[in-house]
Amino acid sequence: MSGYRYATRAEILGASIYDHEPDAIVLNSGLAYPPLLPDVIREATEAARSHVEETLQYGPLMGIDDLRDEVVRFVAEDEVRCSRENILITYGAKNALDLALRVFVEPGDRVITTRPTYMTALQIIRSHQAPVLDIGQDNEGFLTDELEEKLKRLRANGEPVPKLLFDVPDFHNPTGITTSLPRRRKMLELAREFGFVILEDDPYRRVRFEGEPVAPLKALDDDAESVVISLGTVSKILAPGLRVGWAIGAPEVVKRMSRQKADGGSNPFTQRMVTELMRGNKLSKHIADIAAQMRLHRDAMTESLREFLPDAGVRPPQGGYFLWATLPSGIDGDTLAATARKHGVEVSSGRLSYPNEYPRNRLRLAFSFVGPDHIREGVRALGGVYDDLKKQEKNNGV
Ligand SMILES: Cc1ncc(COP(=O)(O)O)c(C=O)c1O
Repeated sequence: MSGYRYATRAEILGASIYDHEPDAIVLNSGLAYPPLLPDVIREATEAARSHVEETLQYGPLMGIDDLRDEVVRFVAEDEVRCSRENILITYGAKNALDLALRVFVEPGDRVITTRPTYMTALQIIRSHQAPVLDIGQDNEGFLTDELEEKLKRLRANGEPVPKLLFDVPDFHNPTGITTSLPRRRKMLELAREFGFVILEDDPYRRVRFEGEPVAPLKALDDDAESVVISLGTVSKILAPGLRVGWAIGAPEVVKRMSRQKADGGSNPFTQRMVTELMRGNKLSKHIADIAAQMRLHRDAMTESLREFLPDAGVRPPQGGYFLWATLPSGIDGDTLAATARKHGVEVSSGRLSYPNEYPRNRLRLAFSFVGPDHIREGVRALGGVYDDLKKQEKNNGV
């Protein structure tokens, strides 16, 4: 048919950051480091041999019970107290976000996020036709004062107060910032006062290079009057291709989310594999290996930025997969990213991470996928492209 009449959301979803040019140095998406993809032959064999009726059948909407129990044990290490009925297994954290939006948000309802925020979360939020109330960050993370002021203004004007806040409090994507304990407590206080739910997306918590952990919002939540839904995933600690994640919330909420699944119970085969991986000591060893490797990548990236792009302002993150760079004000992130792509290096313009207005001079760099030598090579090429753009800027200004 010529001239398909698409829905609005089909216009919203733009180019994929997962489509890469052949031989490009990929510094734009949080892919797993290939040498650290786990050996799962034993777990896949176990799933296929001993659990056929579970793994090759439609699964329970809430996920398989053994995995829900493993998640309870896993998050207990972070002082999150919950039981099986609080756990919903999903296709990953992004799927859990989508299900939560289905449950809480009508088209036109505003969702609160930081500015900038996780770019794919924005795509999902936009696909629900939800505008964003954006809130800044500083070195202590989420700016609760700004949120409080904006919420009070909405209330005073008789406008609807958002029902949902989305945040990445540990090693934020893209800024790498971790929100402090007092700010977390204030977020919870505001959630109770203004009646919204906090979606705490926490994929990087265990990928820590240094510094002390801060209690998850979910650990500070009140069990009886819960306002936090915590989202977890194995994408950053095992393998994103398994597509296994979870949401932890009040039983009533996660049950409603499960009813929004339109797929017959997610993927019991990989759920069983992940259960087996979590049961042994393989997972904790694997997480330690990933964190050690990502630290080398982070160091390679910060050092090569210092050498090849010294004009960029960077705050080396203490964990996670991403680094956020501020360029001098005359340099446009879109132009730099597009030109770098032509020179074989893929980075993301900061624009993609902003819900509304955006400064033009930001870049998001992922250090997860390629090793230190390629990171250096990629940043060197990026620095070359930057130097050329700067010369052009200067010439234009003369
Ligand atoms: C903030 C954030 N949340 C979640 C994810 C992963 O989502 P999923 O579990 O769907 O793979 C990522 C991956 O880049 C991320 O950066």
